[in-house]
Amino acid sequence: MVKHKQATWGGRFSEGPAELMLRYSESVSFDRRLAPFDIAVNKAHSAMLCKVGLLTPPERDAIHQGLDEIAAQIARGEFTWDTQFEDVHMNIEQALTKRVPAAARLHTARSRNDQIATDVRLFFKHACVEIGERVRALQRAFVALAEANADVLIPGYTHLQRAQPVAVAHHLLAYVEMLERDFERFAAVHDRANVCPLGSGAIAGTTLPIDREFTAKELGFVDSKGRARVTTNSMDAVSDRDVFIEFASACALAGVHLSRLAEDLILWASAEFRFIELPDAFCTGSSLMPQKKNPDAMELLRGKSARLQGNLASLLVMVKGLPLTYNRDLQEDKPPVFDSFDQLCLSLEVAAGTLGGAEFHRDRCAAAVADPALLATDLADWLVLRGVPFREAHHAVGALVGVAEKLGCPLPEVPDSAAKKVHAALVGEWRVVFDLERGMKQRTGVGMPGPARVRAELKRWRRTLEMDATR
Ligand code: ARG
Repeated sequence: MVKHKQATWGGRFSEGPAELMLRYSESVSFDRRLAPFDIAVNKAHSAMLCKVGLLTPPERDAIHQGLDEIAAQIARGEFTWDTQFEDVHMNIEQALTKRVPAAARLHTARSRNDQIATDVRLFFKHACVEIGERVRALQRAFVALAEANADVLIPGYTHLQRAQPVAVAHHLLAYVEMLERDFERFAAVHDRANVCPLGSGAIAGTTLPIDREFTAKELGFVDSKGRARVTTNSMDAVSDRDVFIEFASACALAGVHLSRLAEDLILWASAEFRFIELPDAFCTGSSLMPQKKNPDAMELLRGKSARLQGNLASLLVMVKGLPLTYNRDLQEDKPPVFDSFDQLCLSLEVAAGTLGGAEFHRDRCAAAVADPALLATDLADWLVLRGVPFREAHHAVGALVGVAEKLGCPLPEVPDSAAKKVHAALVGEWRVVFDLERGMKQRTGVGMPGPARVRAELKRWRRTLEMDATR
């Protein structure tokens, strides 16, 4: 077995790592996607070293040029990644050193521990913006579908039993609300990531006269007034993985929302409901049963949500009980967040694509919402307005439902004589409550599914999501 002496840390070793150890410990197979961020960090760090007199301007310029060349090579897919150099940092550094002798001075006053912490914070800032854009696109897809079906009513469900009528737009806008909280959560994770750990060194900073604020500003770790934001404890900075966990948590929760959407759409698309037709482009067939149209995209959405929760759990367990500061366990922090990022981006796009091609079966929705039992609560309210205490009214309408069941007729068809026997106040115009349109119009309060309110909400979201501007 060839045992190469390790170029970067191999000074005290008599032989290099075993081939098996290299295969076990390499991270370049997955952390290479941090290359653009690692290069940015290298540029900022070398600029800072020059500023404080640890690199000459020509050395800095040669390093910058070499890094630009490597970046271009990577972008073209022509860079050779070598597991012998463990990770993204050492691959880039050794390639740079081959081109630029001064690169041997680049790793001054820093460690891979603060380097990786800085790279990933740049990654998280990027990832939060990318996800935020996809969340917005999905919200717009919801609003568009809700607008196209603004007049469609369906039964709302609790316990998956028919409860009360709602506008389908109201149901769809519930998801827009969830997604808005997701959007805010990713903005908060972005802000949390926006603090520069570079200069923390391996654990205890450096004896060299570095300028941390300078590197922070170069890398965009600044507040709204352009002031540098740097971490304030070197030990925390190199061992902290909170932002990983917060990011994975935001992904997991967004995934939970998408999974509930998936379940709603799967139910609605079933023959039993048939409220909605999902687009062929996001469904598949069965290899055995020719008639099948399966909502696979939605099932995958539900399944991926489990994966996002698993990634969060992996990170929490990994960090739990780790002594300060950096431990190599932490190298395993990257696959879960990369996976959550990739899968959530895809899931958000798939959800938007599915909604974009979905069509409501208006006839089926109308038939389902015509169930007068959905307005039983309205009848209790009608009694309340006539002075009956709600508990008593609830009881009376419940008894009326029992009578209807016994007679085998719909609720409004219970004869006056029977109704009056159930409760003395059940006389006169009590059947007006079964006029669905009237009932919906009465739901005027904030957060309710009445038509005027829903129209106002659609307008509000249109504004918030800048939907008119993009048209
Ligand atoms: N590849 C490492 C990681 O992802 C970089 C930090 C390595 N530090 C060390 N002391 N071995 O965590």
